Amino acid sequence: MSNIQSVLSENRVFPVNPEFTKQANIKSEQEYQQMVADASNNYSGYWANLARQYIDWKAPFSKSLNDSNPPFYTWFEDGKLNVSYNCLDRHVANNPHKTAIIFESDAGHIETVTYKELLTKVSRFANGLKSLGIVKGDRVIIYMPNSIEAIVAMQACARIGAIHSVVFGGFSAKAIHERIHDAQAKLVITSDAQKRGGKIFPLNQDVKEALSLPGCESVEKVVIHRRTGEKVEWDNKRDIWWHDVIKNQSDECEPEWVEAEHPLFILYTSGSTGTPKGVQHASGGYLLGAITTMKWVFDIKDDDIYWSTADVGWITGHTYLCYGPLAVGATQIVFEGIPTFPAADRFWRMIETHKVTIFYTAPTAIRALIKLGGDLPNNFDLSSLRLLGSVGEPINPEAWMWYYETIGKSKCPIVDTWWQTETGSHILAPIPGITALTPGSCTRSIPGIFVDIVDEAGNLVTDNNGGYLVIKKPFPSQIRTIWNNPERFIKAYYPEDIANGKYYVAGDSASRDTMGYYHILGRIDDVLNVSGHRLGTMEIESALVAHPGVAEAAVVGRPHDIKGESIVAFVVCKGQLPTGSEKDFLINELREWVAKEIGALAKPDEIRFGENLPKTRSGKIMRRLLRSLAKGEAITQDISTLENPHILDQLK
Ligand code: PRX
Repeated sequence: MSNIQSVLSENRVFPVNPEFTKQANIKSEQEYQQMVADASNNYSGYWANLARQYIDWKAPFSKSLNDSNPPFYTWFEDGKLNVSYNCLDRHVANNPHKTAIIFESDAGHIETVTYKELLTKVSRFANGLKSLGIVKGDRVIIYMPNSIEAIVAMQACARIGAIHSVVFGGFSAKAIHERIHDAQAKLVITSDAQKRGGKIFPLNQDVKEALSLPGCESVEKVVIHRRTGEKVEWDNKRDIWWHDVIKNQSDECEPEWVEAEHPLFILYTSGSTGTPKGVQHASGGYLLGAITTMKWVFDIKDDDIYWSTADVGWITGHTYLCYGPLAVGATQIVFEGIPTFPAADRFWRMIETHKVTIFYTAPTAIRALIKLGGDLPNNFDLSSLRLLGSVGEPINPEAWMWYYETIGKSKCPIVDTWWQTETGSHILAPIPGITALTPGSCTRSIPGIFVDIVDEAGNLVTDNNGGYLVIKKPFPSQIRTIWNNPERFIKAYYPEDIANGKYYVAGDSASRDTMGYYHILGRIDDVLNVSGHRLGTMEIESALVAHPGVAEAAVVGRPHDIKGESIVAFVVCKGQLPTGSEKDFLINELREWVAKEIGALAKPDEIRFGENLPKTRSGKIMRRLLRSLAKGEAITQDISTLENPHILDQLK
């Protein structure tokens, strides 16, 4: 709440830097307004023009938006393209020796690849995938660290029309299993292990464990990349080394020309109910969103050194690491490690070393680094920087100011970008050459995207209390459906009870200030944002309840200075209320249990036990009360409907 209040009372405005504007891709407010007007006057034509301008099509499209079957919208559906061709071949034709990726490993080893070299790697691996029997439409799970090979694996899938689903390396074997099963994946690509912060995480072992669970029969092969040299428990029938897959493969691979709507990837993300949802993105529209926002929001230029610290396991690592930067022919850094290893100056050192010009990271990293050494950046030459970005969660004005002054030296615009796994690319973000900035606000919508704040009935909300953030028109880079579950897609994003299902409902609440700038107030559903990672409370509750000693569990978020939110679990055990050392033992066991069920990122920060949970007489858990208890607030809510008020004392 304090964070929300400070955001809402924020009234500092930082005008645009005229030096930046001079060289910007969008130079004037008129230009922006003209784009908005063009989109308003001829929405379908506006996006069609951009798609023709920015994407190389094998077969041109004749239709832009098809909205005949809402909310299953399609874009450019009779056009044919290949995303990997757009990311690689077309740049190789112009500038083959331009550096595509500068990879820095956890230990500081640097490896550089040009566009031509990257195309060769992708083509060879794509041919290797074909030799394993992978064809257009097959699903491929990728469980790898940030690396050149992870990008090669994703691009190779795109090249042959296979649908990848990347699983973040921090997720557990159980989580991999769930995704393999839901996607009915035919192949898994992994590494022997990954190194982060000097520690080894045995990725292949997690895959092995996942595959040992029932329901993974669809998987025919596992391709293992040797990253660390860790010992691998080999399965003769299933396993094959990456280096053997590419051995003797041709350097050339004709791209599979796919329809614009052909799924490019599935990425699982948490919702308020049930298991993670397989967000399905289409090839053409998604690519267009990635390219336009690289140009408009990141103001990308040919000579930039762009660095997004995102992991390939998240949507940011898809759009702004694997696809967007390559689609615009940029040079980018790919970093395997963490910001605090070997020391909390790692980011600043890397910016100096590589002369980074555009830097994109998450507020949680900024807050952690301020705490660990707010003046460390002053030891480095950060003068190459010209633009900073923030993503994943609201950035509090204090962190914003530090980022602006200490990192950007008050000359670099900060693009605070609001978007989601489902939107594929930025939705709300400053256009850096023209948008004055307010700390903590992601300002306005991307030209051509129509966003609003509404109440249940769909009426515009104008007060500070906020309302539902909605996107009023379908847009090219949006989610197409939930893999294998169209009903869930409609229910989750076009719910009948909000504006009659007319608009895309983001699941966030927001308000608009007097400048018309958006301020994100947070999720309106039971989704937590812990260190920029999206987690469903129900997912964690289900994990806890799966423990043989647990009868019932409820999970809520509590504001946290660095992580944004921390996880507090209220647990009812079977049998006696645990006390003393038994209680400590159980807390530890349950935290590890959740790490095994979901991943270490979902471990509760605090676990409290009670004989019951606060419930209404009809048996509904009163989460508002639990949130107050977690924060240590006095209970001021009406508890007259509470069945068991004495429980509150136990759970304090
Ligand atoms: O609540 C919003 C928050 O992150 C959610 C989307 O999470 P995910 O799909 O994992 O994608 C994260 C990276 C795009 C949103 O519903 N969020 C994301 N960016 C911001 C944000 N909240 C405030 N400000 C942002 N810039």
